[in-house]
Amino acid sequence: MEKQVKRIGVLTSGGDAPGMNAAVRAVVRTAIGNHIECIGIRRGWHGLIAGDFVRMDADSVNHTINKGGTILYTARSGEFLEPPGRDKALATCKLLGLDGIVAIGGDGTFRGALALSRQAAERGYDLRVIGIPATIDNDIGCSHYTIGFDTACNTAIECIDKLRDTMQSHERCSVVEVMGRHAGYLALYVGISVGATAVLIPERELDFERDVIEKIRKARLAGNTHYMIVVAEGVGSAFDIGKRIHDEIGIDPRVTVLGHIQRGGSPTARDRETASRMGYEAVMALTRDCGNRIIGTQDGRVVDLDMEEALQMHKTFNMDRYQVLETLSNLSTPDL
Ligand code: F6P
Repeated sequence: MEKQVKRIGVLTSGGDAPGMNAAVRAVVRTAIGNHIECIGIRRGWHGLIAGDFVRMDADSVNHTINKGGTILYTARSGEFLEPPGRDKALATCKLLGLDGIVAIGGDGTFRGALALSRQAAERGYDLRVIGIPATIDNDIGCSHYTIGFDTACNTAIECIDKLRDTMQSHERCSVVEVMGRHAGYLALYVGISVGATAVLIPERELDFERDVIEKIRKARLAGNTHYMIVVAEGVGSAFDIGKRIHDEIGIDPRVTVLGHIQRGGSPTARDRETASRMGYEAVMALTRDCGNRIIGTQDGRVVDLDMEEALQMHKTFNMDRYQVLETLSNLSTPDL
């Protein structure tokens, strides 16, 4: 017999991403629309352990769809990684009478959710968990897209367009480090979008002569006097890249680390819309009683996948995009 879901929790965990609020809003409003009570857990898993919660009604998410950050706050919890920490979290779930939790975050968030659900089952407690992928890194295996990526790309592009102005005036080389943890998606999208001279990503082994020096040389021979090198943080420090450029060809690059600025700001249409659809599907999946799920996108469609299987999935980095960049940056008159 299907279990009726009466009350759920929603939380955001790990690094924040623009669009998380739109996802929370969608979860809250879809739950209420389906006669399910919704409790906001503040500060992620850490908050679940501490019993840090807030009741969410439809008005509690008014005017949040346009806001960056997360109204529920976020944290990374070491204690939750261990069974005793999860038992404390389960005590909160029981006290609140939660039938399910929607966890918005990245890979670590989902692994924590699955561990919690399994531990609950061992204790005879049916607690279902649903994951919504939100990270600017776009590095979650089971989903083509993660909430926040588009906004972060646009933020980085806006910053680099500004850098381009001053680099052009001074005829300089700019080395810009973008986030992405171990993945190069952000760097590559941004690099293509700003017409970078070179983009360095962790998915491609670095050959400094081929990937940096030769590109700058070609651009110079084509008549350019300023160069934009985009470096994914997973490759290493942009300062080291800048120094190496200086040591090898004598030009004096300026280094910019965009850092956490990429995590903020009002979410773009793509992030608001995707987050809204994912939040809606997360609650609908809970009402369908189909176990632990991750809501992802595949070719623009929102899909829900078995959480255990989804966590085994790997994303193949699309090297065709790198080829696009290579082709465009090797034209005789590159953009930068
Ligand atoms: O996962 C998102 C992300 O912004 C990564 O791109 C980056 O490596 C990391 O989080 C930074 O984490 P923190 O907020 O702990 O500095």
